[in-house]
Amino acid sequence: MKKIAVLGSGVVGQTLADGFLTHGYEVMRGTRDPAKLEDWKAQTGKHGSIGTFAQAAAFGEIVVLAVKGSAAESVVDLAGVENLAGKTVIDTTNPIADAPPVNGVLDFFTTFQESLMERLQRRAPLAKFVKAFSCVGNALMVNPQIAGGPPTMFLCGRDVDAKHDVKAILAQFGWEVEDLGGVEAARAIEPLCILWCIPGFLGAGWTHAYKVLRPHPFAGSGMV
Ligand SMILES: NC(=O)c1ccc[n+]([C@@H]2O[C@H](COP(=O)([O-])OP(=O)(O)OC[C@H]3O[C@@H](n4cnc5c(N)ncnc54)[C@H](OP(=O)(O)O)[C@@H]3O)[C@@H](O)[C@H]2O)c1
Repeated sequence: MKKIAVLGSGVVGQTLADGFLTHGYEVMRGTRDPAKLEDWKAQTGKHGSIGTFAQAAAFGEIVVLAVKGSAAESVVDLAGVENLAGKTVIDTTNPIADAPPVNGVLDFFTTFQESLMERLQRRAPLAKFVKAFSCVGNALMVNPQIAGGPPTMFLCGRDVDAKHDVKAILAQFGWEVEDLGGVEAARAIEPLCILWCIPGFLGAGWTHAYKVLRPHPFAGSGMV
């Protein structure tokens, strides 16, 4: 059984922690204030536990970072770069600025020259960050039941083996995967959150997901 650390007491942390438990993993959730996750712990079986960011990061063989974007760098510090070294870190975060959306368009505190994940990777150079789960709402993160599915999850990261870990998890969680390469691709993946949120803010709901469509492999060959 693989041990997963989920850093984050918010809805994404809860959704992914529950998803990992459902799929047979052992999960420790991390927060600055473990007492607030006592109810969650009481509802889970013996495979769920809680701790500080550092305790969870030390526990996990794979770490999920699911915290407020503007706090992500400080949570990496609280988790301890030594506890993340050598581990796959699934980065769900988005660099959403505090300013309110304008006509449904969110503001980011990063630039097109540097994504949040690049900052995190620099902060913890021995961790193996993989961007994933950032471009869909939490309600669809685990085994999305959606017309025309399975939807596509975009991921990127520096380390091929770490991406292999995350691709296996995404397959279990019911996703197709589009691997966009190295950490710099987070400059493109993170803003997909802005695009994804616009229909929600404009009243068209929050239950959509991206899918990449390509021609059928035999198109044009006379075989279809
Ligand atoms: N909500 C979604 O559907 C969705 C979808 C895709 C991606 N995301 C991204 O996923 C991440 C998590 O989202 P969320 O909605 O679950 O929760 P959130 O409200 O964005 O983040 C909550 C977490 O951030 C931590 N945090 C906040 N301020 C902090 C500070 N000053 N120092 C240290 N930690 C701090 C909290 O720590 P404590 O536990 O100690 O309070 C908590 O664990 C975000 O980056 C978001 O953009 C969200």
